[in-house]
Amino acid sequence: MKPDIVALGARAEKMIEELARFSAQPGRLVRLFLSPQHRQAADHVAGRMRAAGLSVSEDALGTVRGHWPGAGRARKPVKTLLIGSHLDSVIDAGKYDGPLGVVAGILAVEHLARAGVELPFAIDVLAFGDEEGSRFPATLSTSAACVGAFDRATLGLADADGVTLEQAIRAYGKDPGDIAHCAYKAAEVEAYVEVHIEQGPVLEGENQPLGVVTGIVGQSRLRVAVTGEAGHAGTVPMNMRRDALAGAALMICEVERIAKAHAGMVATVGHVEVIPGAVNVIPGRVQFTMDLRSMDERAREAALRAFAAAAQGIARARKLQVDVEPFHEIAAVDCAPALRRTLALAVEDLALRPIHLASGAGHDAQMMASLCPSAMLFVRCRGGISHNPAEYASPADMGAAVGAIIRFVERHAAAQGAAMASS
Ligand code: GLV
Ligand code: MN
Ligand code: MN
Repeated sequence: MKPDIVALGARAEKMIEELARFSAQPGRLVRLFLSPQHRQAADHVAGRMRAAGLSVSEDALGTVRGHWPGAGRARKPVKTLLIGSHLDSVIDAGKYDGPLGVVAGILAVEHLARAGVELPFAIDVLAFGDEEGSRFPATLSTSAACVGAFDRATLGLADADGVTLEQAIRAYGKDPGDIAHCAYKAAEVEAYVEVHIEQGPVLEGENQPLGVVTGIVGQSRLRVAVTGEAGHAGTVPMNMRRDALAGAALMICEVERIAKAHAGMVATVGHVEVIPGAVNVIPGRVQFTMDLRSMDERAREAALRAFAAAAQGIARARKLQVDVEPFHEIAAVDCAPALRRTLALAVEDLALRPIHLASGAGHDAQMMASLCPSAMLFVRCRGGISHNPAEYASPADMGAAVGAIIRFVERHAAAQGAAMASS
């Protein structure tokens, strides 16, 4: 049975629209990890999975798992192919970042099941809940639990309202004591594949709907606190001030300078807090975040050292104190070459030209790569815009992505069958 790409695209769009209704704020999309809106989206996805013929469970961190046994009753597959993405969002998000990958997995498996395809592996469609890190100062905790790498120290981290991750898990009806049971065993897992919007302009520039991800950047997130002395804006002479904000501004310029000095590196200061933050008070303390990314691990480490040295130098010269605290660190990963080849062939099966590109955004695939071979399929998004309500992927492109995942699964199964026959 040949997939109807147009119909699949229309259904993907409808399901994404349905999920976009689950927001904490009217008029803009805000769906945070373990929030009531996460609960609604998870329940909705579970319903869609059941309708597609999957059996549904939910783990201790709220990841929804839709299981399809893959084979007929005669054979029991030993391994499971994982297809997933996330349901949480940034603040004032677009609709496609995350949900597209979940929806694509459901639609692909539904097609395979209805077509009566028999696979030498089972499939789990996973709907993670913490890819963005928008609620707690941690990220990828749900996929970390699935690979057995959940850091229990994160249970004590608090959100903006002072609710700890542990309290939020309990309020969601889960038991943090069960998190260890979320982990798949490496021997049970075939591979992980994720469909995601590109969130950048490369595919649009190439005039192609689909891209095969070569690798995902390594990432460091830091909190920087600069302490000086608050004082009266009218009475303290300029040469006697210890202005934390003036020092922080120089440090922020260093962040930009250091990133520009390394090819392919990006760095962002996305949040700055000035204390006390009054028009007539010399800032006594400033806290800012820094997000630094590169495919080159050595360059990322060198940049972190360069920033620490520059920040200390600025602080010394201005009699300030600077404290740099890393709060998220993940290494760059290469997507599995064999899966990349299969994805590229699957895209070509649709008479499309696969574009090979690296991901500058973090993804659950990056965490899953520590468990099993992992790969990603990118979908063109209009203007390369993401983390923005203007984010848009066309039904035609989303339908092509579902079609490519169907072909990917069929090709992966055929390659396995050939390998088994020759062994
Ligand atoms: C996730 O969207 C990220 O920050 O890369
Ligand atoms: Mn995402
Ligand atoms: Mn995102």
